[in-house]
Amino acid sequence: MNRISRRAFMLAATAAGAIAIAGTVAFAELPKLAQKETYKVGFAQTESNNPWRIAQTNSMKAEAEKLGHQLVYTDAAGSAAKQVADVNSMIAQGVDLIFLAPREEKPLIPAVMAAKKAGIPVILLDRSVDPSLAKAGEDYVTFIGSDFIEEGKRIAEWLVKNANGKSKIIELEGTTGSSPANDRKKGFDETIKAAGGFEIVASQSGDFARDKGRQVAEALLQAHPDADIVYAHNDEMAIGAIAAIEAAGKVPGKDVLVLSIDGGKEAVQAVIDGKIAAVVECNPRFGPKAFETMLRYAKGEKIDPMVINEDKFYDSSNAAAELANAY
Ligand code: AHR
Repeated sequence: MNRISRRAFMLAATAAGAIAIAGTVAFAELPKLAQKETYKVGFAQTESNNPWRIAQTNSMKAEAEKLGHQLVYTDAAGSAAKQVADVNSMIAQGVDLIFLAPREEKPLIPAVMAAKKAGIPVILLDRSVDPSLAKAGEDYVTFIGSDFIEEGKRIAEWLVKNANGKSKIIELEGTTGSSPANDRKKGFDETIKAAGGFEIVASQSGDFARDKGRQVAEALLQAHPDADIVYAHNDEMAIGAIAAIEAAGKVPGKDVLVLSIDGGKEAVQAVIDGKIAAVVECNPRFGPKAFETMLRYAKGEKIDPMVINEDKFYDSSNAAAELANAY
């Protein structure tokens, strides 16, 4: 799927059910959702390997239960191929709508298109798909989640104001090909570049995972002993990096500033302890907004292509006061 264009994708999909009109190819309209008291709804989760994912899943399950909807829940265990199969299984089970948290931007396109072809609306949760291959309002209803570019920008802006002479950055990227990894990099790198005076000495994926983040940070700290800032695309990798910094005989927060995104309790506690300098929250409380959007869609209301969650920001000025509110 890497180099496929939307046009090529659409042409290929013609055989699979798209409609050809006067030489052009157009898909049938976005599937509608009938108005009902309760629904049978799919939620295709990408993995459950960190507090953020668990908080998101709990929020979805709690809201479905509160509203009396039946939730068909699947966990792709970190495999895009399994997530595609999970969506196909939901289609076979005849769900009314699918909430999909696509692990990566391109590999989940076939799942979005298969649901559309089966007449089942899809709402993307937290991660998006490649916008050149699938579009909100056409192929899926909407994307609900954080503005990941803004998250990267906010943490970079904090760094620009608070670096105190530190300048050499190791960047720990999230899962390759995922929208948060792409966008958190873009928002951060562009802001740092515009500010000047900083250098990203290494940037490598730690797959949003604690142990991988630790291993990558260990190798990069060895290769770049002068690095004095670690920017991790999520808390798990930031916490892994703290272990790597300490293993290298350095003090996180003093010798090396650690910056993170997610804002789970463990990271906010690390801000209080002085080990993480600042963290942008990525709000995982999706349940109320997801089901409210589904009901608005069923009523025929116009849904914006992006429904953005609000994120908090934690540093030493508010971490202690906010700890109890962190997930
Ligand atoms: O898509 C959001 C990201 O995915 C979170 O930052 C991360 O922790 C999760 O796995």
